[in-house]
Amino acid sequence: MKRKVLASIIVILFLATVAFQVADVDLHMLQSPGAVVENYSESDYGLGSSYVDSLKTYPDLKKGERQPFELWEYAGRGKSSFGSPELPMPFEDWLAFHKEQKPQLMKDVDEYMASRFDFNGKAIEGQFMSGGRKPVMAGPIARLPESIGSFEALAELSPEEIKSRDLFPYKPLAHPLQSIAHMVFPDSWNQEHPEHQRIDVDHDFPDEYLPEFPPPMFLTNHKELGDVTRGREVTISNYYEIFDGLLTAEQMEGLKELLKPTPTTWFNHTTHRITAEPSAGVSCFSCHVNGHTNGAFELAPDARPNLARLRVDTPPMRGNFNLMQFSSKRSIRSMDHFAEVEEYFDGDPGMQQAIGPRSQKREVTNRMGDFNSILDFPPAPKLGPLGRLLPEKASDIELLGEQIFFGKGKCVQCHNGPAFVDDYMHDLQVERFYKGRPEGPIKTFPLRGIKDSPPYLHDGRLPTLADAVEFFNLVLELELANEEKQALEAYLLCL
Ligand code: HEC
Ligand code: HEC
Repeated sequence: MKRKVLASIIVILFLATVAFQVADVDLHMLQSPGAVVENYSESDYGLGSSYVDSLKTYPDLKKGERQPFELWEYAGRGKSSFGSPELPMPFEDWLAFHKEQKPQLMKDVDEYMASRFDFNGKAIEGQFMSGGRKPVMAGPIARLPESIGSFEALAELSPEEIKSRDLFPYKPLAHPLQSIAHMVFPDSWNQEHPEHQRIDVDHDFPDEYLPEFPPPMFLTNHKELGDVTRGREVTISNYYEIFDGLLTAEQMEGLKELLKPTPTTWFNHTTHRITAEPSAGVSCFSCHVNGHTNGAFELAPDARPNLARLRVDTPPMRGNFNLMQFSSKRSIRSMDHFAEVEEYFDGDPGMQQAIGPRSQKREVTNRMGDFNSILDFPPAPKLGPLGRLLPEKASDIELLGEQIFFGKGKCVQCHNGPAFVDDYMHDLQVERFYKGRPEGPIKTFPLRGIKDSPPYLHDGRLPTLADAVEFFNLVLELELANEEKQALEAYLLCL
């Protein structure tokens, strides 16, 4: 009898322990598991449910390792959303690794770019960027596959046929070293700012196809001054001399903040860096030089794995006062908010521990926004107050271009208003033309002052305005005649 009681007590105790453990586990499961659809069948955006399976899987790369250039052929999931401020090897080995890898990488990058574009150095006669010195380049320069003779022949084919015969000349452009990614500055910038010269990779566009440097700066509140910099790059050392007495104290403070370098994921004082020497970091104007752009590129911090992030070419800050939507994928809604969140850490707040937070106070980012909001577009002397060409100033071909822009070309549907932008994101569904991972909706960019900011599209895959016209002729299936395309290019040069 006693034994039975003892055995029961042991069993009860055992069950109680198990129950307690289960209860303990349950305590950590604060939420119920959530509903699950029975007989679930995969849904997609009409791409076909096996579409993802038909793409290649992203390679698993360590920081610094090269990836295939044609990243649009890939898809997949990364190991984790969280990065780390650690190198995969000691810093001395890191330096040696890149010293060895970079020359071959850049040789391959140049060959790849030359296989996609014919950088022939031809300029459009008599057309210069707003500073008046740098010629605007002629195009289209995207190379067509040998099996198709011309852009005209290509435009006659359906998207399906272009895709199945792999003929599309405007596939996305990846960062040449996407496992590290981060900012890549043009050579012309690095010559003046050697602290931004990377040990691992250089810019992949020839200088002729990038914006003028330094670009002019036009202010909404001092139109009479024209280029207020008088041909100088505004820096933390000369901004006071250039702007004292022209700006409010609030705007001066904002400008100073835009010029002040702060550490970034890879430009900093630690050994988690891609410069030979430690660096103070970069400032907003390191890419948006003089409130414009020098053509530096980065990756949008919009996705993981790193290999899925889209390359983004620096857009101008000019005319931002009229925009309602900022950055191609993130849909940020104000300039000061942009200054607050600007992703110096590539969308990874975990890096702040090691590198130092940028965390600007609200007052400061508001002032940065205050200065940003007086950066004007360059003059467009052929446009009247309604943003339409003045017939007495414009040529016949430019007027024809305007007609196409507002008519057959359908451009105005998304590019309207004073800055020629609708402030929406659109899914142009460019993947109809090539077999690759779709890029999804992207914001429309303004076309005012467009001749000053090549290359075009979020990733810079359109090196010239003529390429932009060919791109939209294909993507919108416009079937424009040669003369109409030339007219459209001539019109874009007036904006
Ligand atoms: C890598 C060089 C680089 C630096 C440094 C940089 N930007 Fe940018 N900026 C970019 C790129 C690239 C984009 C486009 C982002 C995108 O499309 O997602 C951008 C977009 C913007 C936009 C939105 C413009 C538009 O048309 O959508 C604003 C505003 C802006 N930056 C302000 C700033 C401010 C303020 C700072 C400093 C805190 C800064 N940027 C620092 C490269 C840079
Ligand atoms: C359905 C909306 C839509 C229409 C119609 C449209 N665009 Fe665009 N445009 C966009 C979007 C969205 C982008 C940005 C796409 C990207 O970066 O991937 C863009 C970008 C551009 C750019 C590059 C801007 C830059 O700063 O890089 C040019 C040039 C351009 N469009 C010209 C035109 C012309 C010319 C037409 C008419 C033939 C046209 N667009 C018709 C939505 C449109």
